[in-house]
Amino acid sequence: MTAPSPDPDLRFPSGFLWGGATAANQIEGAYNEDGKGLSVQDVMPRGILTPPTQVPTPDNLKLEAIDFYHRYAEDIALLAEMGFKVFRFSIAWSRIFPLGDETEPNEEGLAFYDRVLDELEKHGIEPLVTISHYETPLHLARTYDGWTDRRLIGFFERYARTLFERYGERVRYWLTFNEINSVFHEPFLSGGIATPKDRLSEQDLYQAIHHELVASAASTRIAHEINPDIRIGCMILAVPTYPLAPDPRDVWAAKQAERANYAFGDLHVRGEYPGYLLRTLRDKGIELEITEADRALLREHTVDFVSLSYYMSVCETATQEAPAGRGNLMGGVANPTLEASDWGWQIDPAGLRTILNDYWDRWGKPLFIVENGLGARDVLVDGPDGPTVEDDYRIAYMNDHLVQVAQAIADGVEVLGYTSWGCIDLVSASTAQMSKRYGFIYVDRDDDGNGTLARYRKKSFGWYRDVIASNGACLIPSPQDAAQG
Ligand code: BG6
Repeated sequence: MTAPSPDPDLRFPSGFLWGGATAANQIEGAYNEDGKGLSVQDVMPRGILTPPTQVPTPDNLKLEAIDFYHRYAEDIALLAEMGFKVFRFSIAWSRIFPLGDETEPNEEGLAFYDRVLDELEKHGIEPLVTISHYETPLHLARTYDGWTDRRLIGFFERYARTLFERYGERVRYWLTFNEINSVFHEPFLSGGIATPKDRLSEQDLYQAIHHELVASAASTRIAHEINPDIRIGCMILAVPTYPLAPDPRDVWAAKQAERANYAFGDLHVRGEYPGYLLRTLRDKGIELEITEADRALLREHTVDFVSLSYYMSVCETATQEAPAGRGNLMGGVANPTLEASDWGWQIDPAGLRTILNDYWDRWGKPLFIVENGLGARDVLVDGPDGPTVEDDYRIAYMNDHLVQVAQAIADGVEVLGYTSWGCIDLVSASTAQMSKRYGFIYVDRDDDGNGTLARYRKKSFGWYRDVIASNGACLIPSPQDAAQG
């Protein structure tokens, strides 16, 4: 590891929350232990690539995942070794309410997260908890068609209240729904909606998201009643959308596509349906069932901060035939100026600065980058201290994105922290592969489920430790960034 060379222009505020992020279904395993019920993930052996199965099948890597359920202490110790200030994880709803519609929670499930929090506390790592990260209890999907049914609001409120009452003194930062805007693209994964996508109308999908938004506002109310110090954030899948050409029709197409994502942030932050969304609904002949009580909740219980995942940008065009972009659950067309990852996600560090500035200008709420990273095929090699991965490509990716975060902070944007996605290798959400790795820590398991599950430090492990220790001062701006300021 080269010694950090502090750069005075790259400043992160003191107290900046450096860390990493995960989700229960992608790390825990133990899918049927200690009273846990099934979640939608347990019947998605190929992620979003093929329709769900009727029952869990052994080829579903998430059933065991990386066995965090039994190895959490060892894993958290490794995160602490990197100097983590914050660790984002989700609580598996079906561990707490195995079916989702019971009245009493499962004590063994609650006790597991007590143990995780104990371990984090021991190492001085702040928890950041996602309440619902693509893991709706399967029973709610099959019996109620997931979030299309208004009754899920009540079930979610009970679940959230249980969490705030149990952990509300120990967990300050909470996120309600992971990437709420993804319901449109992946209704089963994101909204627990069992009806196949091609049989769902836009009316169904908007109504489902409306229910989630109301549930989010209702939980914000409950959280603040239980402990006013709790900070609730929304979570948006951020995809800056550029016009493919300067043609004004492309500019408008890009704006419309971007608004499809902004809309849900607008609702979370401003508490009312924005005019452009009302027009879209009108034009499509969609009439949502929105009660007065819904409106009051949305208006009065807006979020405290905005969190986002950022992996890529896309282009839009209304004027040209262009190849479709491949990427994080969203469409768009490919940007001819950008390189892509092994999975075709286009890499655009500057897009992160752009979206941070846009969100800050629009909402004026503190921002938290809760996902960002490079999914890549790593090769384990022998190193002086044992097996390792020479993942310079990951270091370059993260360095370049973090430099853009520093630029956004210099632009005046308030950024609370940064949790890189999959800080320890985990099972991919979209493809359910192990070989799409994001971590600083290599986990010995392949796509067929073979491997010892041993953990090995990659080269990026030491690099991130230095970044955190220097509070970002060892990051290296590209010559272009240095000139641009
Ligand atoms: C985000 C999700 O969309 O992208 C994560 O919140 C997911 O759950 C991450 O893992 C990366 O996507 P993938 O498909 O590479 O796992």
